Amino acid sequence: MILSGSASQSLAATLADELDEPLASVEYRSFPDGELLASAPGFEDTRAIVIASTVSSDAHLELLQLQDAAAEWGAEEVVTVLPYMGYARQDKTFERGQPISSRAVARAISTGTDRVLTVNPHETAVCDFFDVPAESVDAAGRLADPLPADLTDPVFLSPDEGALDIADTVQKTYGRGVTDYFEKKRLSGTEVEMTPSDTDVSGRDVVVTDDIIATGSTMSEAVSLLQKRDVGRVFVTCVHPMLAQNARTKLANAGVEAVYGTDTIERAVSQVSVAPDIADAL
Ligand code: R5P
Repeated sequence: MILSGSASQSLAATLADELDEPLASVEYRSFPDGELLASAPGFEDTRAIVIASTVSSDAHLELLQLQDAAAEWGAEEVVTVLPYMGYARQDKTFERGQPISSRAVARAISTGTDRVLTVNPHETAVCDFFDVPAESVDAAGRLADPLPADLTDPVFLSPDEGALDIADTVQKTYGRGVTDYFEKKRLSGTEVEMTPSDTDVSGRDVVVTDDIIATGSTMSEAVSLLQKRDVGRVFVTCVHPMLAQNARTKLANAGVEAVYGTDTIERAVSQVSVAPDIADAL
């Protein structure tokens, strides 16, 4: 049976269809003191697939509760799917006294599961922090699906070299165009400085691809730079459309034509589902 965290209900339903497995009815409650209780009264199976994007502290807590509920009520195997793994970008320390947050959450999640799958984490090495077998699922190819079929001489750009593999995958799946990347320097949590790529973008449609749009600073800076260069249409696409704070407004003001993402984080821009990729990996 599939058990879903409250933030991943649409993806869980799509996955249930994809796998032809039952979807447990999960109840989400909170108490006056703020404590949560996620429970699955009808759970009855020997294998549980707990799927929850850990988009918040509450989502982390729900996930731990659902793992525990499954084990308590008969699951002999618990598989945990993190479509989006929160804290994955905090994978090293920068100052004395800091934790490796992704390792801390990975250890906690490992205690209630036999196996972990996560979709396009910022660095796949984060899988090594789990104490159980953990693997990364690559769903970047899905990002080509919602793109207009009539892109003019397209350029697929990543905002930094680290995300170039995503641009390459989207370009190959789309079937036309070239790839390149910007140079990026992060100034603070919400500010980045970027240098354009060498590729001539004048008159061409550009698709900027990334693993995540969080505050939207990276993408809006990239779009603004492109708009100074006589570019055609500019689309942005990402696996994880976190779109925190005023990210969507920043992108609109920068002059983006459209924003696309997957359902690892369920947002209005979640145009494609990663369920088939998760189903294959399961
Ligand atoms: C960083 O290297 C990531 O790939 C993203 O570019 C970054 O995390 C996006 O964050 P934001 O939207 O806040 O600029």
